[in-house]
Amino acid sequence: MKISIISSSHRINSESKKISDFIEKNLLNINNDLEIFLLDLAKSSLPLWSPDKKNGEGVWGETWNSISKNLESSDGFIVVVPEYGGMATPAAKNIFLLCGNGELSHKPGLIVSVSSGNGGAYPIAELRSSSYKNTHIMWIPENIIIRNVEEFNPGSHGKNIPNWLDDRIDYVLNLLLAYASNMKPLRTIINRKDFGNGM
Ligand SMILES: Cc1cc2nc3c(=O)[nH]c(=O)nc-3n(C[C@H](O)[C@H](O)[C@H](O)COP(=O)(O)O)c2cc1C
Repeated sequence: MKISIISSSHRINSESKKISDFIEKNLLNINNDLEIFLLDLAKSSLPLWSPDKKNGEGVWGETWNSISKNLESSDGFIVVVPEYGGMATPAAKNIFLLCGNGELSHKPGLIVSVSSGNGGAYPIAELRSSSYKNTHIMWIPENIIIRNVEEFNPGSHGKNIPNWLDDRIDYVLNLLLAYASNMKPLRTIINRKDFGNGM
């Protein structure tokens, strides 16, 4: 089984990337046979969607094709999204426009939001309401909010990270994996071509 983790900060060496690395380690602790694809949107610097994508030139050639294939072959997704200006990041929104070829279609997704303060709710509300229509990603009915993220340091969290958070993350990762393996058969009976875009 393959899981993609998408770190959607705009900053290199971001808190989102730190959390993505931590999640990758946790997933492998749960199941060492998992294949993980970690996409750091700050590093990959994908441009905003444009009509040029159709031509497959420049970044829309090998670079995007390789990312697209990795997402396409994944069984589930974890989107780590920081709150910027009370919103999901533009990079997070952009990846949903770029995935126009069924890469995420009818596969479970987990949103993990990140805030250096007490935020983190807005990007979850935003992604839940607006990202699924054409991608057909299935957000699972759990999410994680990591507040005071700079104090998140497994083994010696700062005082503003509650003790129960590690257990909650473990529980939700196990849940995502259960959805990922159990939703596989669903995709064999879905005809995506007739109604490729949601209503
Ligand atoms: C442009 C920008 C806007 C931000 N806006 C918010 C916000 O609205 N709410 C919030 O809780 N944190 C906000 N922050 C602080 C981020 O939560 C904090 O910088 C976090 O570490 C960002 O994640 P990253 O390191 O993965 O980019 C903002 C940060 C940036 C850079």
